[in-house]
Amino acid sequence: MRMLALYSIKGGVGKTASAVNLAAEAAAAGWRVLLWDLDPQAATTFYLRAKPKVRGGVARLVKGKAAFDKVIRATEIEGLDLLPAALASRELDHLLADRHDNQLRRILKPVRDDYDLVLLDCPPSLSTLSESVFASVDALLVPIVPTVLSVRTLEQLRDFLDERDIPCQVWPFVTLADRRRTLHRETIAALPERWPLRLSTTIPGASVVERMGLERAPLRHFAPATPAARAYRALWEEIAQRLA
Ligand SMILES: Nc1ncnc2c1ncn2[C@@H]1O[C@H](COP(=O)(O)OP(=O)(O)O)[C@@H](O)[C@H]1O
Ligand SMILES: [Mg+2]
Repeated sequence: MRMLALYSIKGGVGKTASAVNLAAEAAAAGWRVLLWDLDPQAATTFYLRAKPKVRGGVARLVKGKAAFDKVIRATEIEGLDLLPAALASRELDHLLADRHDNQLRRILKPVRDDYDLVLLDCPPSLSTLSESVFASVDALLVPIVPTVLSVRTLEQLRDFLDERDIPCQVWPFVTLADRRRTLHRETIAALPERWPLRLSTTIPGASVVERMGLERAPLRHFAPATPAARAYRALWEEIAQRLA
């Protein structure tokens, strides 16, 4: 079971859009995928037409007592299950605080053989939850909007991981890109040397991505031929290759 997180200290950079689309691409490629919505804003849960409610609460999951079949939902997409957003992150933080670093991976032990890939959609924060994410995943997928500020938050993340000796791989990728803008082109061009693990696929800024909120579905299900949908397919293929 591989585990990846869509993570950034910054909000509004496309974590959720990417989590939903990459999960759908992975499922379409035959992977058994679990998407875990860790953001109390529950956008992923909304996109996948589920309700952000977990019977018995996530506390029972964290303590290893809950039956997973009660909390995991099947979605309308074949091969894609969802663990909905259920707790405010403060509560989840609190629950994780005095447990093992990689508690998120441990929580998933009962379903380890049921999934090939677990994708985490994270809230934009540095917290106990994020430290548990860092200790649990194979890599962080970090969306970068090609602006100076966004690149700076990537550097802050790297400093945070370095200072604490957290051996977590960071795989940045560019999203919301506008190739007509010089600053975007320059920022993108400057990335490879500083970020050797950068994924080379760029996700364009496209209004069809915003439509996901109306359609409540991943791009491949309502606009599969658009450049953004193709970019997510290519991004997933790049990620799958790295995981192989
Ligand atoms: N590639 C894109 N092109 C256009 N709009 C996008 C793109 N990716 C995300 N968005 C929009 O930007 C906003 C923030 O995206 P979201 O995925 O929710 O970010 P995050 O999860 O990082 O907060 C949403 O309104 C979303 O529809
Ligand atoms: Mg989000």
